[in-house]
Amino acid sequence: MNGPAGFEKAPDGAAWLDGFPAKDGVTLISENRPFQHNEADYDSQYYNQDSNESGTGIVNLLRQVKCDFRGPILELGCGTGVATLGLCKAAESPWLLITDASTAFIEIVRKKMMHRGMDLGRVRFAVLSDADLDRLPPQSVSAIVLRSVVHHFLDVPGWIRSAARLLRPGGAIVCEEPCASGYLNMGLIAQAVAENEANGLWAEQRAQARLLADTMKAYNRRDMDKSQWEDKHLFRPEEMAEWTDAAGLHLTFIPNAAFETFATRHEGELPKTDFPEFFRNYLHYCMNFGPESAARIAQAALPLCRWVAEACAGTREPHLMGIFVMRKPQESVFERKRSGAQAPPGPSH
Ligand SMILES: C[S@@+](CC[C@H](N)C(=O)[O-])C[C@H]1O[C@@H](n2cnc3c(N)ncnc32)[C@H](O)[C@@H]1O
Repeated sequence: MNGPAGFEKAPDGAAWLDGFPAKDGVTLISENRPFQHNEADYDSQYYNQDSNESGTGIVNLLRQVKCDFRGPILELGCGTGVATLGLCKAAESPWLLITDASTAFIEIVRKKMMHRGMDLGRVRFAVLSDADLDRLPPQSVSAIVLRSVVHHFLDVPGWIRSAARLLRPGGAIVCEEPCASGYLNMGLIAQAVAENEANGLWAEQRAQARLLADTMKAYNRRDMDKSQWEDKHLFRPEEMAEWTDAAGLHLTFIPNAAFETFATRHEGELPKTDFPEFFRNYLHYCMNFGPESAARIAQAALPLCRWVAEACAGTREPHLMGIFVMRKPQESVFERKRSGAQAPPGPSH
């Protein structure tokens, strides 16, 4: 027994986890890979609140797509637990495997859960990197959930194939990720703002606008070696559909929706994203420019942001972010073909 109470014994059906080494109650499937920014500062940078309802939203969304909850839920990239806490409370799965590539993040989440007196009997923690999914047994989980994590993975199509192998029939992967069209619009607007010397911005703020433009351009490019970068990609629904299809999964894309949206709304019309406001918040929190610079750059960008918003009126574009739901059919023809097995007798569906 080398971990805190409640962490030594695997929940039912989790025995395969015990094949991996463990330290202080955390299963070590991968090597520790620290985040490129200080893990302890993460919550304050993004103003993360305990009241965030992403976890409840994830569970509602999984219910809505009729995900089979009989197996465990795997979370990758839990970070400081923005989705994890709600997920562990709301999920009706037998147990949950909460993971991150960084042990520091796992420690933060575990402490938060213990301080809040949450029941950890169903929860296991592990260090797990995207490239090591094949170390887990096939068809071992019912759902894989990721909030703002897949854009950190180097080989996304390869990751989707490995994740599909892990899913039980009737299971689903859900992820919330940044999308190309909206981010490219932000980049183009930032470039125009940076080049305009008559818009009243200080030189430092024009440099910040240029940094945003360069960052958006770099995220979108696919011709660079990103192996050492933290954030790597932006996503396009048609490309995700192709990769998902190749892995034998079925994709549903929900544009400009966040997991939190589903905490209260299960069906029907989704709220619209306010493009100028998203632009300002991105400068403030994601680029970390602070409220004053964010407000000034956003003000200089307002006519162009409004132009984009008007041009997209009546559509759900530009896609700034979105939820990708990848479902594995109950009976996977794809896997049957791959294994060479005969179709079972009976009517086809
Ligand atoms: C933007 S943070 C999101 C954290 C959390 N899910 C949230 O919503 O706040 C990205 C997370 O992915 C993790 N991560 C980065 N690269 C990873 C990889 N290759 N494999 C697994 N996790 C990774 C990071 O350690 C970090 O916790």
